[in-house]
Amino acid sequence: MKIDLLRKLPEHMDTLVLLLDSKSKVDDIDHLPTHFKESIEAYVKKEEFKPEYGKMKSFQTVFKKHVSNIILCGAGVAANLTADKLRRLFADITRSAIRLKASNVYLFPSFAPPIGDTQYGHVLAEAALMTEYKFTKYLSQEKPHAIGSLHLALNVKSTRYINRGIIEGRLYAEVTNLARNLVNEPANVIYPETLAEAAKKAALKYGFSIDVYPMDRIRRLKMEAYLAVGKGSKAEPKLIVMRHMGNPDAKNKTIGLIGKGLTYDSGGYCLKPPQSMLNMKNDMAGSAAVIGAMCAAATLKLKVNIVAVVAACENMISGEAYHTGDLLRTMSGKTIEVINTDAEGRLTLVDAIHYAITKEKVDKILDIATLTGAAVGALGTEITPVVTNDDAWLAKLEAASEFTGEAIWRLPAHESYNELIKSQIADLKNTGGPFAGTITAALFIREFVGNKPWIHLDIAGTALRDKESGMYSVGATGVGVRLITQLLREMA
Ligand code: BES
Ligand code: MN
Ligand code: ZN
Repeated sequence: MKIDLLRKLPEHMDTLVLLLDSKSKVDDIDHLPTHFKESIEAYVKKEEFKPEYGKMKSFQTVFKKHVSNIILCGAGVAANLTADKLRRLFADITRSAIRLKASNVYLFPSFAPPIGDTQYGHVLAEAALMTEYKFTKYLSQEKPHAIGSLHLALNVKSTRYINRGIIEGRLYAEVTNLARNLVNEPANVIYPETLAEAAKKAALKYGFSIDVYPMDRIRRLKMEAYLAVGKGSKAEPKLIVMRHMGNPDAKNKTIGLIGKGLTYDSGGYCLKPPQSMLNMKNDMAGSAAVIGAMCAAATLKLKVNIVAVVAACENMISGEAYHTGDLLRTMSGKTIEVINTDAEGRLTLVDAIHYAITKEKVDKILDIATLTGAAVGALGTEITPVVTNDDAWLAKLEAASEFTGEAIWRLPAHESYNELIKSQIADLKNTGGPFAGTITAALFIREFVGNKPWIHLDIAGTALRDKESGMYSVGATGVGVRLITQLLREMA
C-alpha cells in the first residue's frame, strides 16, 4: 500500500473517507472542492451521521463520476484524541476500505489532531499496514484484498514531519508483520533451524550481524538447562545471537534482549491437553519480537548497542526427553530441580541470560516470553504483565507503551514469594506451585540477572488474538516489536 500526502485532487476518487470530529460538518473540510461537497453532503444528511468517536458508516454512491464509495468515520471531540485512539480509527477505516474492496483511498480529516505531525504520519501508516496484514499463505483460494494507495488530505505547513512519520510507521508495521509471519507459521515450518535461517535473512536485509551456534557449541558453553529442554526433539537446538553495535565507543551500555524461542511446546512428559497444545507453535513469539526489534534498530541506525539472544528449541517427548525430577546444572552453576517439564521456557531463558551477561557482556536485560498461562488469567489478552527491578527503566518502558499502544502493567515481585521456588535438593525448582504463576516465573528468572537492570515481559496472553479487532487479525499480534523498538529509541 502506497501511503502519502495528497497533492492534487484527482477527477475521480475510488473511496473517500471523511474523518469528522464532533464539531465539524462536511462543509468545513476546506480542502474538499465544492463539486464534491455538494454531492456528498446530501448523503451525509440522509444518513443522519453523528460523528461520535468510533462511529462508522460506509456506502456506495450513485455519483460514480466523482466518488464510488464513501466512508464516514466519527472522531468525537478532537481535543480528546490520543495517538492510540487515532490508530484505532485508522485501523477501522482500513478494515472498512478492505471490505469495500477499495483500491485508492482518500482520507479527509475535518480537524487537526492534538498530536505532532510526525506521530500523526506514524500512526496512520502503522495502523493501515498492520490492519492490512492477514496470514493467508496457506489458503489456496482466498487472497486478501490489498489497498493500492492511501492519500491523506491535510493542510500542513511543512510536509517533512508527516512524511518522516509515514516512513517510520511503515517500518514499525513492516517489522511487526515480519514477526507475525514467524509466529503464525506452524511448527513443521518454523523449527530452530528455520527460525535461525529466518533471522539470518532478516539480518542480511536489515543490516545487523548474526551468529547461529549449533549443538556442540551450546554443549561447550554448558547451557545444560537449555539443552535439557531440547533433548526430546529430533530438531537440533540453535542458539541465535544477533548484534547491533550502534555506539561502539560506549562502555557498559549494551542492552541484552532475550526472546523465548520454543518453536513448539508440547509440555514434554508433563504433556499438555490437546486444546492447550494447539497454539504452542506460537511459543516463539518472544523470539519473533526481538528479531523484529533488531530489524527496526538496524534500520533506524539507533545509537545503542544491542545483543539479542534466542535459545531456540522444541519441547517434545521421546526416549531422550528430560524427566520430572531431573537435576540440571545451568550455565551459571546454579542447580534446578525439574518439577514440571512444561515449565520449560524459564530453563531456556536463564541460560540465554547468563550467556548474554558473561559472553556478550550485556549490562541490561530485557526478556520477553510466552511464559505462563497465569499471565492470561491475570491480565487477559490486552495487557502484558511486566516484572522489573529497575523503576527508572520501567518509566521509559511506560513512555514507549504510551506511544505504541501496547499496554503493560507491573506485577509485584515480592521477596516473600521466593520461598515458592526453593527446592530441597537444588538451588531452585522450576515451578512455584498453583498461585501467582507469572510472578514466581519472573522471580525464577531474576535469580539469574544478578544486580543488572532487568525487565521481564510475559506475553502469553497478548501474543495471539482469536478474534480480529483494531489493527489485529486472527493469530499473531507481533506484540513487543514496536514496544521494544520504541524503548530502544528512548534509550538511544
Ligand atoms: N508456553 C507455556 C505458557 C503459555 C500458556 C503460553 C498459554 C501461551 C498460552 C509455558 O511453557 C507453560 O507451559 N507454562 C506453564 C507453567 C507451569 C507448568 C508452571 C503454565 O503456565 O501452565
Ligand atoms: Mn510449557
Ligand atoms: Zn512454553
